[in-house]
Amino acid sequence: MGIGRVLIVGSGGREHALAWTCRRDSPDVSIIVAPGNTGTAPLGQNVAVDVTDAAAVARLASEREIDLVIIGPDAAAAAGVADACLALGIPVFGPTAAAARIESSKTFAKQVMDAAGIPTARWCAGEADDRSRLSAFVAELGGACVVKADGLALGKGVVVCGTVEEAERALDDCLGELRFGDAGRQVVVEELLTGAEVSVFGLSDGRNVRTLVPARDYKRIFDGDHGANTGGMGAIAPPPDARSRGFLEDASRSVLEPCIEALREQGNPFVGCLYAGLMLTPDGVRVLEFNARFGDPETQVVLPLLDEPLLEVLAACARGEVGAGVAPAAGGAAVGVVAAAAGYPGDVRRGDVITGIDTLDDGVLCFEAGTTRDGDGVLRTAGGRVLCITATGADVEAARARAYGNLARVHFEGMQSRTDIGRPVTAGVLS
Ligand code: AMP
Ligand code: GLY
Repeated sequence: MGIGRVLIVGSGGREHALAWTCRRDSPDVSIIVAPGNTGTAPLGQNVAVDVTDAAAVARLASEREIDLVIIGPDAAAAAGVADACLALGIPVFGPTAAAARIESSKTFAKQVMDAAGIPTARWCAGEADDRSRLSAFVAELGGACVVKADGLALGKGVVVCGTVEEAERALDDCLGELRFGDAGRQVVVEELLTGAEVSVFGLSDGRNVRTLVPARDYKRIFDGDHGANTGGMGAIAPPPDARSRGFLEDASRSVLEPCIEALREQGNPFVGCLYAGLMLTPDGVRVLEFNARFGDPETQVVLPLLDEPLLEVLAACARGEVGAGVAPAAGGAAVGVVAAAAGYPGDVRRGDVITGIDTLDDGVLCFEAGTTRDGDGVLRTAGGRVLCITATGADVEAARARAYGNLARVHFEGMQSRTDIGRPVTAGVLS
């Protein structure tokens, strides 16, 4: 079945990278991005839709006779966009709301992991009424723990704690003050693990898993992994300490495949990108989290290395016919460096003029996220993470040099970027 018309749901750098890859592989495909951004506009058509309005997205897909809907953000998956499209008979790459619980409920994810024998941190979950049990677990861990809001909290619902006092305060904030709203009425407390992190993406049709090249994102705002957590200040693929085929095959066999199997056995087959956030601990690989979507900004470095047509693979997943194994990837590496607006990850300044993205070398990519064009066609900042400059090279060092060489031509007032994307991470630094 050929794909003539595709609808990509979302508006970030990840969706720009998805649209760019679809266009690269399939010059004739018609691409709609809902709502899209300034970067996706030249690749197809942007249509303004609220990504959590499942009925509206499904209506758009139906009206435009879409052959495949690709869901970007977790909020869209959790809101039932896939369910609404499937109900109209429209093929979807992206999980139903029930399957997306692997991301939208951390307690559910932990239960699945334990039942399926997937290696993860020891944990305890509960609500305000279970406080004494939670506190006893914190004490047992000597305070070295991570307190996580159960639900979706824009990636901000995780507090890493070093002492009992910090952990108790995190529990108060989450359960008492409802700092993360309803998402934090239930918490998961986990033992604190240490080690480098790796993101692994498995494209699944509900049964088979096709694994993409692994990646690493750099979550903290400042160099050396200091400062506040962000959505991601840059990414590399593959990380030098996780680049072997054996690593990927092990991760697929011990983490992705059992999770897919468990969800299928529960009657909620997972069709979409299953993202495992792994930690390489001294005791082996442990799963920190599952996400029910492509990672951002990892997608901006993983997809440029993919050496097979993305749309065909995603369509095969939607049909229930994807080939298991490791997807072919171009050799070498990719490095993406995010340029963020002044104030990020707090309140950000908007409206600053962006210059230089038309001066990038051939083959260097600029994935836009928080950008807008004003009435005069001038590109301006319009969000926290503004754009991501991605370059490929023979290895991480070469890709890194090229990415930074090109980023140096990009300017806007108050631009923030890390200088150490692609350098080894300092594992375990807390602030
Ligand atoms: P999560 O949203 O669950 O991936 O957590 C966000 C970040 O918190 C992860 O990328 C890690 O840096 C950190 N984290 C989560 N769980 C743990 C853990 N058990 N031990 C140490 N760090 C963790
Ligand atoms: N890069 C982390 C995420 O997408 O959640």
